[in-house]
Amino acid sequence: MSARFGGKVAIVTGSSSGIGKATALRLAREGAAVCGAANRNAEGGQATAREIAEAGGRAIFVQADVALAADCERVVAETLRAFGRVDVLVNNAGITKGAPLEKADEALFDQVLATNLRSAFLMSRAAVPHMLSRGAGSVVNVASVHSVATYTPYAVYSASKAGLCGLTRGLAVEFASRGIRFNAVLPGNTDTSLHPRSNQAVDRAAWRPRPLDGLPIKRAGTPDEIAAAIAFLASDEASYITGAALLVDGGMLSILRDR
Ligand SMILES: NC(=O)c1ccc[n+]([C@@H]2O[C@H](COP(=O)([O-])OP(=O)(O)OC[C@H]3O[C@@H](n4cnc5c(N)ncnc54)[C@H](O)[C@@H]3O)[C@@H](O)[C@H]2O)c1
Repeated sequence: MSARFGGKVAIVTGSSSGIGKATALRLAREGAAVCGAANRNAEGGQATAREIAEAGGRAIFVQADVALAADCERVVAETLRAFGRVDVLVNNAGITKGAPLEKADEALFDQVLATNLRSAFLMSRAAVPHMLSRGAGSVVNVASVHSVATYTPYAVYSASKAGLCGLTRGLAVEFASRGIRFNAVLPGNTDTSLHPRSNQAVDRAAWRPRPLDGLPIKRAGTPDEIAAAIAFLASDEASYITGAALLVDGGMLSILRDR
């Protein structure tokens, strides 16, 4: 198979672990030069870039908070300095934080919305002009099954991910005639540190584990299975797909319970 991303340059936010790391590695394996970005776990981000370089690829890591406009501009500027162009943007950075309404404050709301939604707006605003100048580009936003359905106490997280799908559709329409596609991937239960089971930031007392045997595919997804869908939408194979919301959830949202 020819390299789908040969000669291309990709930015992947949240590249220090989980889905972002798997995506950075996959895009690099398929020929892309990759700029990874993350605000915390800089060692993880550096390690991802090192792993790509050791496998013969090209990668840099930029420590940045994608909730901040100046940091997003810096990520794009560093990408251009290192690789000269931007073809693919994967807005993957995100946090899962939840609280029941009576315990949720504005700080939680603002942090979740800024990290999960404003970040995609800011990164797109910074990167898209450099795609427009070449008349081509692809943006993939990592949303969630929580864009569509949710459970307590994730109303705010759900709002951020539903908003991300709205942003995806709006920008897809805005840029379709100018060669830039915007799509969303909606992962289900994926085996990463962000999952509430292992995430320290989550109110564990409020979280109820969902048995995986309730899923049609009776296991969690792997980060690489999500990365595969992201890479497909980012690639030219998806040239007629824009504004889509692709569920990668093991059938989670397809099952109708009879009780
Ligand atoms: N794991 C799941 O079950 C699951 C399910 C649905 C959706 N998702 C989504 O997938 C995405 C990746 O999550 P993951 O499971 O790989 O988790 P993870 O915690 O392993 O990775 C999150 C990444 O985002 C980065 N990040 C967080 N806030 C940031 C900020 N302000 N600026 C820059 N980087 C920031 C972290 O440094 C890390 O690299 C998230 O958007 C998440 O909402 C995950």
